[in-house]
Amino acid sequence: MERENFGSKIGAILAAAGSAVGLGNIWRFPIETGRNGGAAFILVYICCIVLLGMPIMMSEFMIGRHTQSNTARAYQKLAPGTPWKWVGRLGVFTGFFILSYYAVVAGWTVEYACLAIFNCFRGMTTRAEFEKVFNDFASDPVMPAVWLIFFVLLTHFVIVRGVARGIERWSKILMPMLFILIGVLVACSVSMPGAASGVEFMLRPDFSKVNSSTVLNAMGQAFYSLSLGMGCLCTYASYFDRKTNLAKTTLQVVIIDTLIALMAGFIIFPAAAAANYGLTPQDIGPSLIFITLPNVFQQAFGSLPVLSYVFSVMFYLLLIVAALTSTISMHEVVTSYMSEEFNLPRKRSALVETTLSIVLGIFCALSFGVMSDVKLFGMTIFELLDWTASNICLPVGGMFIALFAGWYLDRQLFRDELTNRGSVRAPYFRALIFVLRYITPFLILAVILGNFGLF
Ligand code: PHE
Repeated sequence: MERENFGSKIGAILAAAGSAVGLGNIWRFPIETGRNGGAAFILVYICCIVLLGMPIMMSEFMIGRHTQSNTARAYQKLAPGTPWKWVGRLGVFTGFFILSYYAVVAGWTVEYACLAIFNCFRGMTTRAEFEKVFNDFASDPVMPAVWLIFFVLLTHFVIVRGVARGIERWSKILMPMLFILIGVLVACSVSMPGAASGVEFMLRPDFSKVNSSTVLNAMGQAFYSLSLGMGCLCTYASYFDRKTNLAKTTLQVVIIDTLIALMAGFIIFPAAAAANYGLTPQDIGPSLIFITLPNVFQQAFGSLPVLSYVFSVMFYLLLIVAALTSTISMHEVVTSYMSEEFNLPRKRSALVETTLSIVLGIFCALSFGVMSDVKLFGMTIFELLDWTASNICLPVGGMFIALFAGWYLDRQLFRDELTNRGSVRAPYFRALIFVLRYITPFLILAVILGNFGLF
């Protein structure tokens, strides 16, 4: 089967960055930061990005581009007849789980875009008003499911159009717009009266709040935000051309992703402080950005309602796009796996994944309303999928990727791929192998075991 490629270098970077940047940065990062005590969590998070995220991202890129195949086949090609293919398969399952609940939140962003377009936040000033809008919507048995289905179908539509025309073209236009808009919002938010304590929350670490579960959450968030550990970037790299510099692309994606997450924090917390939200952990949950952000728009431009309107509409539309470029990448992992492994036409395998994700997604959507009492280990279906996928499945996937790249794979092959067969230099290579062998996998294991009190 002829495989498509990304048409340009910048297209490849933006598609990978598009996968990485999404609700993970703007919705999940502030929640985790808030729940885990602010600046100290951010420092642990950045350590995880450098020690775990970057080496694993390079390995995924290398495996994907070298084998030019879906994630399970990639391991079969590099390690025929061994159980390594299960690493790829674990990724396919994780992708399916994440897509199912991620699309629920993505659906909320569509509802909020509509509310913004119809100017429904006009005149609202108190936190209680914004909270009511969110709670009434999220606990409704119908609308969240409708938007979830809409969102998965939107993803489906892009997926069946193929890689270059669908994924690449959109990422190229919309990612830079998102970046600029977020920059403007940071400026608005930090200049609101009373914002200072929110800025301080982001900047002054309090290490007394760091414990084993903080570290696990920071690690999970790092994997989640960078789309690592489930073969997503491996699948995308299979569409990179031979000249793409993998190390440079890694650095670019990591910087863009981390900047956007931090900027999201600098929007939410100063604004929350300005609006007098007592930032207690029990206050902070999936609704965080849906309550604070509309408030930012109203307060920041209160005397100029046109600006409030324009900014909120643009923001939610771009959030939809950021979420879409991520759901596409999760969907692509499952679709390319099914179509290449079971020899299904691409359209058919996309349809199977779309249907499965909608079914599981509906249960997640209902867990904010009629099914909110259905709990396992004290978590709703939505929370359980989120916790398990990001704190366990992704890091475990990442641990095996590091072991595979560090111990199993032929070093020369790895080096050739990173240097594009000698045309770029890789002075970091020995350090990278050392980290992949002795640091990354053991750190991941220690953090997971530590969280269960086993270490
Ligand atoms: N990184 C994406 C985000 O930040 C989420 C994601 C996770 C995408 C895993 C693909 C795979 O929103």
